[in-house]
Amino acid sequence: MFIFARIHDADISYNNVKKLTQIQYEFFKADGSVLRNSPEIILEKDFQQYISTRLGSIEADIVVLKGQERVFETRVLSIIELERCLEKTGDNLFKNIVEIQGKTYMVKVIPVNFNNGESGKIVLLAPTVNDWMTTEKLLIFSGMTFVISFIITNIAIIFIFSKKVISPLGKLQIAAGKISEGNLDFEIIEDGDAQIRELCRSFEKMRLKLVEASYTQKKYDDSRKMLFSSISHDLKTPITSIKGYVEGILDGVANTPQKVEKYLKTVHSKAVHMDRMIDDLLLYSRLDMNKVSFNIEKTDVLKYFEDCIYEIDIELEKSNIKIKLHNELQGKRYIMIDRDQVRRVVINIIDNSRKYMDKQQGKIDIFLREATSNVIIELMDNGAGISESDLPHIFDRFYRADSARDTRKGSGLGLAIAKQIIEGHEGKIWAVSRKDEGTSVMISLKKYEE
Ligand SMILES: Nc1ncnc2c1ncn2[C@@H]1O[C@H](COP(=O)(O)OP(=O)(O)OP(=O)(O)O)[C@@H](O)[C@H]1O
Ligand SMILES: [Mg+2]
Repeated sequence: MFIFARIHDADISYNNVKKLTQIQYEFFKADGSVLRNSPEIILEKDFQQYISTRLGSIEADIVVLKGQERVFETRVLSIIELERCLEKTGDNLFKNIVEIQGKTYMVKVIPVNFNNGESGKIVLLAPTVNDWMTTEKLLIFSGMTFVISFIITNIAIIFIFSKKVISPLGKLQIAAGKISEGNLDFEIIEDGDAQIRELCRSFEKMRLKLVEASYTQKKYDDSRKMLFSSISHDLKTPITSIKGYVEGILDGVANTPQKVEKYLKTVHSKAVHMDRMIDDLLLYSRLDMNKVSFNIEKTDVLKYFEDCIYEIDIELEKSNIKIKLHNELQGKRYIMIDRDQVRRVVINIIDNSRKYMDKQQGKIDIFLREATSNVIIELMDNGAGISESDLPHIFDRFYRADSARDTRKGSGLGLAIAKQIIEGHEGKIWAVSRKDEGTSVMISLKKYEE
């Protein structure tokens, strides 16, 4: 309204509104009270004085007609002006507008009856505050204001909504499309409203999970391929030689009982090797699928390793390897392990030390140490060592250093199985090695504390 008033150069101050209300009030009072009931009072000087002052304060005027005669007037109107005023008999003050000497007035005509039976009319005149302030215009104006502000608000909301919701959703849709096409590298950037950001975040998490899953899948696929080629290769070799030796016997190449026996022994050893390989493979795949349940027992570390060494000592002596246990534990220490499975780990590691021993006098030292909450077992040999490039891979399944591949029997599963078993005990296994100097395999297991 303020802006509208400015545009129309109209004065819509508080005072004007107040004046308008006051005029209406005065008119109404004049209409409803004294004047209508006992119009004679207007003929009294005192009352004339009073009403002049009252109306004067709002610049209003009064003309009283008794019959055709003007008995009181605060403003002298011409006959034509008076006639024009008398035509305005309606109740809506805003419609009873009359122009008198260039100024506009609202007119109220009140019919009255004097005591002597004569009828008369009281004409009240008040200057219009502003003619645009009529009810209709006000309604139209309010309506327009409403519509315009409604449209503006709508546009604003649509703009904000599109910026915060629609466009981020569009981006999300594009990303989802790309992902569904298999393009998992399409990063989803958080944008827009809080909830949309949350949605984007979940989507991004999902994408990362998918990336991870596809990576794992690929890894599994690769390892399955590798498994096939390794198995076929590793089984093919002993089978070929078994076939060769058996054919040798059948064809009569082994023509003495000694030769036959030698051939059969070779066939037997190859078959034993194959049998072991298949066992390893089965064990590994069972461990890999978490199908091996551990039979955990509280075990005295020192005693357990003493027993282990006792079992393999004689075997190692044959290969000219000395094994020694060094106990650096501060007292009796216990670990929770599946004894048979951990024995397999120890045997696998010592078997490697034996297999890859290239020194005249082989040495294996086992150190038992402890940290705050772990027992650390180090199995150190003075064998061929592992090159820096092979070291990170020796715990991978089927991994064999090239030098080992050429010369020693094996499937590359020994350390992979060891790792599975130790990790199944929530422990850690790692190796340090120097080419030509030797290898240390470390195992860390949680101490049992009462
Ligand atoms: N003590 C060691 N000294 C030298 N090289 C080693 C030693 N231990 C492991 N390696 C290397 O790590 C590779 C992986 O060892 P792992 O025991 O898993 O397989 P493997 O001994 O070849 O076969 P398997 O144990 O199944 O008969 C070996 O091929 C060898 O190259
Ligand atoms: Mg091995």
